[in-house]
Amino acid sequence: MRGLAPKLVASTSPIRQILRMDETTLANRLAWDTAYEAQLPAYNEMLAEGATGATLFASERVLLTDILTTRPTVVHPQSGNGQDDIALIQAGARQVIGIDYSGTAVRIAQRRANELGAACHYVIATVPGVPLSDGCADLVYTGKGALIWMPDIDAWATEMVRLVRPGGHLFLHEGHPATELWTWDLDKPRVRPDRSYFGRSFVCDDNSFPANGAVMWQWTLGQAVTAIVRAGFAIKCLEEYAEPFWRMGGIDAAAFQGRLPNSFALLASRPNAA
Ligand SMILES: C[S@@+](CC[C@H](N)C(=O)[O-])C[C@H]1O[C@@H](n2cnc3c(N)ncnc32)[C@H](O)[C@@H]1O
Repeated sequence: MRGLAPKLVASTSPIRQILRMDETTLANRLAWDTAYEAQLPAYNEMLAEGATGATLFASERVLLTDILTTRPTVVHPQSGNGQDDIALIQAGARQVIGIDYSGTAVRIAQRRANELGAACHYVIATVPGVPLSDGCADLVYTGKGALIWMPDIDAWATEMVRLVRPGGHLFLHEGHPATELWTWDLDKPRVRPDRSYFGRSFVCDDNSFPANGAVMWQWTLGQAVTAIVRAGFAIKCLEEYAEPFWRMGGIDAAAFQGRLPNSFALLASRPNAA
């Protein structure tokens, strides 16, 4: 089964989008395409995982229960491999529109959703600059490694509020900004000597994802929350968790064992116009 195809309000020509990109964004996009191509052999494994809906965490389901019962149209900026989109459909969403600048990610996610009969549609586009109309989403769902690719957090938050209809919601389940500080030592947690909570950016480690020299931007929790509020959202809930949203290679680092923050979730609403 397929849902309604999204109505695009701007050109999604790849050439135009590339011409508008700064050098870092261009290089990061290439890093992502390369990483997703390397992931192709795992297609069937990920298809099986997608079918289970397991990537949508129990904590996310709790925070989203009431919204998902209303059968929302969901927009997922930086949708990546799209696994969560299939889970959102299974959990009640009417349709999910995924946006990602990686053409490889978009093609794979679309193929997987089609094979599983999930009402997901994917568009190759850059965030901010999503070619969807204002207020098209009942719910914007994003995160799990999204904010670190945004060089301008206010521009990101302004784009999120533009996409959400008045009375709709933004949901973010994201890596905690502190998680980038921890070593992956198994015996005890340590702080990496090459990182600062207040740093501006760093180059993705070769043994991490997507590697390939990608540059990640850092936003403190305060900066992220302030940008979301400044854009016009009302925050309903902010939770911090010890569990990272993803354990690269299943690593059981001491920093992931309950004492330190590794992820957070934020639910916000766009107030109805007065
Ligand atoms: C950690 S990944 C995937 C996150 C996704 N929520 C998931 O769980 O699969 C981050 C994604 O953001 C995409 N991305 C990064 N910067 C972007 C931008 N400026 N515009 C659109 N997509 C972007 C990458 O291509 C990548 O698929």
